[in-house]
Amino acid sequence: MCGIVGFIGKEQASPVVLRALTRLEYRGYDSAGVASIYDNEILLKKDVGKIAEVQGKYALDGLPGNIAIGHVRWATHGVVNVPNAHPHTDCEGKLAIVHNGIIENYQELRHQLEGEHHFVSETDTEVIGHLIESYMKNGDPLEKAVTATLGQLEGSYAMAVISVDDPGKIVAVRRSSPLVIGVGDGEYFVASDALSFLEKTNQVIFMEDDEMAVITDDGVMLYNKKGKQVKRKAVKVEWEWDQASKNGHDYFMLKEIIEGPEAIQSAATQDKKHVMDVAMNILRAKQVIIAACGSSRYAALIGRYLFSQLASKFCDVVMASEFQYFASSIDKHTVVIAVSQSGETLDVMEGVKLAKAKGAKIVSIVNVPGSSLARMSHKALYLNCGPEICVAATKSFISQLVIFYLLAFAMMNKLDQGVKKLKGLSVGINGSFAENSQSLMTLADKLYDQGNFYYIARGINFAMASEGALKLKELSYIHAEGMPAGELKHGTIALIEEGTPVVAICPNDETYHETISNAIETKARGAFIIGISDRYNEIYDEWIKVPEVEDIFYPLSVVLPLQLMAYYLAIRRGKDPDKPRNLAKSVTVK
Ligand code: G6P
Repeated sequence: MCGIVGFIGKEQASPVVLRALTRLEYRGYDSAGVASIYDNEILLKKDVGKIAEVQGKYALDGLPGNIAIGHVRWATHGVVNVPNAHPHTDCEGKLAIVHNGIIENYQELRHQLEGEHHFVSETDTEVIGHLIESYMKNGDPLEKAVTATLGQLEGSYAMAVISVDDPGKIVAVRRSSPLVIGVGDGEYFVASDALSFLEKTNQVIFMEDDEMAVITDDGVMLYNKKGKQVKRKAVKVEWEWDQASKNGHDYFMLKEIIEGPEAIQSAATQDKKHVMDVAMNILRAKQVIIAACGSSRYAALIGRYLFSQLASKFCDVVMASEFQYFASSIDKHTVVIAVSQSGETLDVMEGVKLAKAKGAKIVSIVNVPGSSLARMSHKALYLNCGPEICVAATKSFISQLVIFYLLAFAMMNKLDQGVKKLKGLSVGINGSFAENSQSLMTLADKLYDQGNFYYIARGINFAMASEGALKLKELSYIHAEGMPAGELKHGTIALIEEGTPVVAICPNDETYHETISNAIETKARGAFIIGISDRYNEIYDEWIKVPEVEDIFYPLSVVLPLQLMAYYLAIRRGKDPDKPRNLAKSVTVK
């Protein structure tokens, strides 16, 4: 996935780049590096580890020069080691490049270049550096050498390049990986997202695929694929830099869980006409498909129940990575709802491109303003929950649920009523947070060394079981599975042993008795039952009491304890919940 940044201005660039990189760490934290141009030389420092570790060792912000680029890595090609960390250089160290994406034909290109060029890493990125080096030998300006190089690359990229042979500029290009430009007062950024430089400027130019930016301290020139200059004004991004701070909490995750109830309020505050309009499009469509990944997909699964239960509208949810295999059934009578916090998940984007080409109407539910997905959709609904930094989704998941509630109520022509109900829920949910924190911490103490957890629920809450399990496994590395309670007996119950924790989400609704029966079946085989419910039952070994709400709102009633349980178990096991191993927040590779 990786995060890239470049800065050019009047002040020393490396400290600015370092600060921006810390805001991009959600994109990868295997290794980090910065390169600058100073006194006709490329100066470069990089190492494996999180930014704070690399900074502690090498003082990345000590590099002189007013032009620099930087990178945080999520390894794709090549193991996590120093040579594979970015920035990469050419043979003579005259240029430096940072890249996010995957060059699909890099092996072929590498074989062609190996005779004349010396490779030091296993990465696909290094190939790009050597190709640019070859073209620079003609004495061409950097942008010309980059253009020639692009002609040979297949795959996806967002990259920034600097060279001592053409100093004073950063050349940046993108295809299928995010890249934006920040326009300040005599200073300019290029970065994977705008949040990274909001401290300095909120004026942002969103780059489109196959565009190139040539950035000097004089301004930004933008070119399209044909080399024709493109004029595009910067737009203001409303997020604040401060929103992305921990606000006194140890981890972003806890802060973002606490922001959940407030997120209900913000997500429910939408332009009603716009929501009605989207809802009518969905209602009238011959076929509705929701595409998403990870937590966003679980939110979509709940949306599917809501559409069906409240508006009698059947729709399907397809994992975005599998979407292409259903493409033949998409036509202009299809509405595709793409759900993505980042609005940059490549699998979602690819699915949407495909559906759009087949004439489908695209509705997106996104959080990041100006994200690629929002821009390529016919209609976008924003989560309005502010930046989410922790890799695992928490408040954005809640906000996605709220948007699905709004759409379902709008389909029933009861939007105002829906908004009122949703806004009324946050108080009770906030209370359950305070009430449950201590018991969840104690529970984590009791269960932290368990190897497997099973989460069960029925109906609309089944996806909450899956989401609870996903949170647990990604943060604490404990194996966990979530499933409809009725499905247990078809296999998984074979894994229940003495003491195995079973999280039974059993709200006091029509599913209560059946879910309890399924929990009893596990208890009979020795399970330790954690009941997440507003109704007590003697089979619970531990009861996490949640607020009583109208049946359809139970997903919002049970969500905070599920998130908190995963958080406390991760902490108890000594894991960093903000940066789980092997994961990244914005998944811009297939
Ligand atoms: C990654 C993140 C998850 C997220 C998923 C989808 O896997 O770690 O937390 O749910 O991507 O991301 P999106 O931005 O498309 O919602």
